[in-house]
Amino acid sequence: MAKQKKRATLEDFKNRLESINPNLFNMLSTPKTHFSFRVNLNRTTVQEVLEKLKQEGIEPQSVEWCKEAFVLSIESREALVKSTPYTAKEVYIQNLSSIFAAISLKIKPEFWVLDLAAAPGGKSLIFSERASKVSAVEPDKNRFFMMKRNFKESLVKNIQTYNKDGRFIYKACPEWFDAVFLDAPCSSEAHIDIAKGITWWSPRRIYKFAKLQKELIISAFESLKSGGEMIYATCTFAPEENEAVVNYLLSKYPNAKVLPIEHNLQNTQKGITKWQDEEYSSEVTKTLRFLPNKAFSGFYMARIGKE
Ligand SMILES: C[S@@+](CC[C@H](N)C(=O)[O-])C[C@H]1O[C@@H](n2cnc3c(N)ncnc32)[C@H](O)[C@@H]1O
Repeated sequence: MAKQKKRATLEDFKNRLESINPNLFNMLSTPKTHFSFRVNLNRTTVQEVLEKLKQEGIEPQSVEWCKEAFVLSIESREALVKSTPYTAKEVYIQNLSSIFAAISLKIKPEFWVLDLAAAPGGKSLIFSERASKVSAVEPDKNRFFMMKRNFKESLVKNIQTYNKDGRFIYKACPEWFDAVFLDAPCSSEAHIDIAKGITWWSPRRIYKFAKLQKELIISAFESLKSGGEMIYATCTFAPEENEAVVNYLLSKYPNAKVLPIEHNLQNTQKGITKWQDEEYSSEVTKTLRFLPNKAFSGFYMARIGKE
C-alpha cells in the first residue's frame, strides 16, 4: 500500500512561527487595520497628490522615514482606489515593508540597478526615481507583461525589462550593476490569512524555495560590481529561506559582508543564528525580520556588500 504523506497542520505552522518569535503567530493572526501607498514621483509631486486627495475628503497620515509614503485606514481603501490620483496612476498601493526595503538600497543618481525578481514592479518604480537606469527581470510571462503595462502606465522611461530566469543573469552580466535588489520568490508566509487556513503552506514548499533562492542570491551577487551593495528580501518568516540563504552566500564568498540596516522601527527582530539543527554565522544578526502589525506585512531583508 502506498505510504500516505502527512499533511502539514496549522499547529505545525504555529509552532514554527513561535520558535522564531513567541508572538509571531498572534501578530500574523491579527487583521490589518491600515494600508499604505506611495506617490509616483515619475508623474507628480507629493504636494499635488495631497491637495487632490484633500479635495476628495482623503487625508492620509505621513510616514516619518519616507516623504512620499502615506498610511490610511482600511475603511478608506475604496475611496483611495476611486480617487483621481489613484486612477491617474499618481499613487501606487504598496506595503510599508516593501517601501522600507526598497528605499534601503543605497542608490546614487548615476547608478544602473538590477531588480532580479521584479514583477509586478513596485520596487523597480522606486529605483527608477533614484537611479539613471534599472533592469527588471521576470521569468513568468503573465507577470512579465503585467509588469511592462505597470511601467508604461506609470510613464517610466528608464526601466529595461527582461523576460528571463534570474538564476542565469550573472552569466550575461558579471560584475555589471552598481546595486542589486533580489526580492526572492518565496513561500509567502507573511501573506497567509490564518482565518482561511494554511491550505498552501508546507515545509516542502519552504525547502523548494530555499533551493531556488540559493541559486538566485549567487546570481545577484555575481552580477554586482565589486564595492557595490545588494539587498536580499523575502515576504516569508522561514529561516531556511532567509538567514540560511544569506549564510550560504557568506560561506561561498569571503568578499560578501552583511551590512547594518539603519532604522527606528519597533516591529523588527534581528536575524537568528540557530534554527533546528542549523547554526548560522553571527553576521546574520545584522539582517532584519519585520513583524506584522497594523500596517506592516511580515518581511525579511539583508543588506549585503561586495568587497
Ligand atoms: C516577491 S515577487 C517580486 C515582487 C516585486 N519585486 C515587487 O515589489 O513588485 C517575486 C517574483 O519572482 C519571480 N520569480 C520566480 N522565479 C524566478 C527566477 N528564477 N528568477 C527571477 N524571478 C523569479 C516571481 O514570478 C515573482 O514575480
